[in-house]
Amino acid sequence: MPGLMSAPDDTSSNETSPQAAERIDPALLLPIVIAPSAILKAKAKPVGPGDEDTVRALAPKMLATMYKAPGIGLAAPQVNVGLRMVVVDIQKAGSPGPLVMINPEVVSVSQELNTYEEGCLSLPEQFAEVTRPAVVTVRYQDLSGKKEQLTADGLLATCIQHEIDHLNGVLFVDHLSALKRNMIMRKLAKEQKRKD
Ligand code: NI
Repeated sequence: MPGLMSAPDDTSSNETSPQAAERIDPALLLPIVIAPSAILKAKAKPVGPGDEDTVRALAPKMLATMYKAPGIGLAAPQVNVGLRMVVVDIQKAGSPGPLVMINPEVVSVSQELNTYEEGCLSLPEQFAEVTRPAVVTVRYQDLSGKKEQLTADGLLATCIQHEIDHLNGVLFVDHLSALKRNMIMRKLAKEQKRKD
């Protein structure tokens, strides 16, 4: 994997490193939107010049919320913000992270496919195998507006595609058959009802 990745030199502040997970300031934590919800089905808006302050304030909160969950990726619509922004950190040796991706776009994908068991913080405790391109190249801006490009494979490639899907109103269950999707959504609804 390291050979495939051109990691941005610096992505974000160290205070959001995984080691800091237990020291996360509770004031940074945001509520996570649980499916089904209209914002999870909506196409998020591109981050524009007027959104600078919003995304700068949001990035540490999204990272804190992701680490606390714990998760390896989180998209802005999952914290009720309809902007094209995701955070990713697969927290594996040699992987870049934490990544904050503004307006991420898939530039190219491999023909080769890969299957991972996926979950989602918006579908707590639900998992299913999803097949996606094994390698993905994405373009995005970092928090300073600098353009970046990253080629990823393995879990990172899957995670990035999963998070970009969120910006287009697509959940991992949308990659499954209607039968499997409905089973998961019914199970989720039942479990959420029990929690209320
Ligand atoms: Ni998700």
